[in-house]
Amino acid sequence: MNFRKLGLAALLAGGVAFAGNAWADAHSFSPQIQHRVAVMKVIGGDIGAIAKVAKGEAEYSPALVERAKRMDLLSKTVLVLFPQGSEGRRSKAEIWSDWAGFEKAANAFTAATPALVSAVESGDKGQIGAALGAVGKSCGGCHKPFRKPKE
Ligand code: HEC
Repeated sequence: MNFRKLGLAALLAGGVAFAGNAWADAHSFSPQIQHRVAVMKVIGGDIGAIAKVAKGEAEYSPALVERAKRMDLLSKTVLVLFPQGSEGRRSKAEIWSDWAGFEKAANAFTAATPALVSAVESGDKGQIGAALGAVGKSCGGCHKPFRKPKE
């Protein structure tokens, strides 16, 4: 794994996130927690925009390819968003007590995103839907064991 690249990606993700809207929501939490929630919200926004096209609720646009690519990039930064000692908010302690499991869940996400990029590039709704399903499964594959329910 290329850590310099990862660091850059995390930096980029931070830039994107702070330009976004997530600051206000979590401002009472540590910077690490604010950062990861912001990045997750960017990911959520991107998957939501792509899902709208798959569901026929929005027109296809080539700009969605950039969203899919951003998700692919951000998926590779997930592990660095959860440094040791940054427990809190909705992150379960199991993230750090079962780091190997958490890593596996993050890798499953990263493994699913290239197919989404190709599908969005194709512009084919069926393909986009199928790839989205796989990516969505990987979100749940981590949230279920590692994220606390909303309070
Ligand atoms: C490897 C684990 C992992 C993967 C994969 C993952 N997430 Fe998350 N996500 C988390 C954790 C943990 C939190 C809670 C962070 C916190 O509060 O500290 C979170 C929080 C979020 C939030 C913020 C909501 C909130 O209020 O907590 C959104 C939105 C989100 N994830 C969307 C997604 C989407 C969409 C995907 C897949 C495309 C995804 N996540 C993939 C672990 C993951």
